[in-house]
Amino acid sequence: MSDKTATLNVDGSSLELPVLPGSVGPEVVDIRKMYGQTGKFTYDPGFTSTASCQSAITYIDGGEGILLHRGYPIDQLAEKANFLEVAYLLLHGDLPKQEELDEFTQTITYHTMVHEQLAQFFRGFRRDAHPMAVMTGVVGALSAFYHDSTDITDPQQRLIASHRLIAKMPTIAAMAYKYSVGQPFVYPQNDLSYTGNFLRMTFSVPAEPYEVNPVIERAMDRIFILHADHEQNASTSTVRLAGSSGANPFACIAAGIACLWGPAHGGANEAALNMLREIGDEKNVKAYVDRAKDKNDPFRLMGFGHRVYKNYDPRAKVMQQTAEEVLKELNISDPVLDVARQLEQIALNDDYFIEKKLYPNVDFYSGIILNAIGFPTEMFTALFALARTTGWVAQWNEMISDPEQKIGRPRQLYVGATQRDYVPVGER
Ligand code: ACO
Repeated sequence: MSDKTATLNVDGSSLELPVLPGSVGPEVVDIRKMYGQTGKFTYDPGFTSTASCQSAITYIDGGEGILLHRGYPIDQLAEKANFLEVAYLLLHGDLPKQEELDEFTQTITYHTMVHEQLAQFFRGFRRDAHPMAVMTGVVGALSAFYHDSTDITDPQQRLIASHRLIAKMPTIAAMAYKYSVGQPFVYPQNDLSYTGNFLRMTFSVPAEPYEVNPVIERAMDRIFILHADHEQNASTSTVRLAGSSGANPFACIAAGIACLWGPAHGGANEAALNMLREIGDEKNVKAYVDRAKDKNDPFRLMGFGHRVYKNYDPRAKVMQQTAEEVLKELNISDPVLDVARQLEQIALNDDYFIEKKLYPNVDFYSGIILNAIGFPTEMFTALFALARTTGWVAQWNEMISDPEQKIGRPRQLYVGATQRDYVPVGER
């Protein structure tokens, strides 16, 4: 704790506000007593200058393009760890020792099956429902199936709910896919890895043997790692806000899924691939870059720009490399990858993008990889939700255990009508 303060002068009097240091990164001005002492709120739509909590999970330096989970750089984790190792790290704070990883892997593996009645729940959806609509509904419904892990005051129940969510998400995402294509649900198989199991549940059919391709398994695992957590983004903040009222974890994660669905957030990889397909050919790239720069055209380059990164998103670099590896393994030459490379080159050298510090984000290349693996675009955000569930449960647990936690209740700058008297309907 430092004794540094910031002085706020308001209405002729001054107020000393504590300045709190983090372990790294910008200090924060603690304004908690401001309203009580000055009768004033701060105004910050979109939380561009406001820390909503303290957290020890993920650190981002957007200017430098740094992303650390519990201190470990994302590129090291993506290269050297597997997804469950990263999940353990996010949840427990340190990388697991071998026995801890074995036990965690065993626990997650043995929670991958879902209640059999849940299959009937799926059947209530139209076959053409978006997988994110299905995921929001089904994950919210888990609280109706697993009553024994909804007491948020019990740390053991919280841990079991966290394990259940991480374990069942691949099963639910695969079921959403199978339902949409009219194929039978595939049960998990416990001798496969977390990611291998997901690929099998998604792409195998009972009529044929299925072998997991280790290059695709590794690429998919890496995609999960790259999406596992990203500090207080919109969906994570939604999970925390929902959880701050004491709502059960399944309901909170369903709220996070709903938020993630938006095209400015998790829906961007779907939008980015659609955009690259629409551009279609390298010769059209310049015209689209010009549209993105035109103030009178609402078009934006999807997969470009980020609220926090004002430098190359470190996840985008790993994603680009993975895209090259997967396309090579599958022997696919996708013109969309050429369009992406060309678009990136033109945009990175264009004054508009340089001045606004707009770089490719994680979503720019991920759609190309997922498409090559065989996922339809509607599944992209569902895969993001699967991976981000790990971050969400880690953040949710951290919030519940934080003694400073309060129900999230932002204030507002009211600009509506002042008090007026009711007028009977015939006299208006
Ligand atoms: N293409 C063209 N111009 C852009 C783009 C883009 N992709 N992104 C931002 N800009 C411009 C804006 O027009 C604005 O210009 P102005 O200052 O002249 O008005 C300026 O850059 C700042 O943009 P904001 O929207 O104010 O920045 P903000 O931080 O609110 O938005 C966001 C970040 C939503 C990600 C934005 O860059 C965007 O819409 N990108 C495309 C969607 C996308 O890829 N989203 C994925 C984000 S990553 C994730 O969720 C996993």
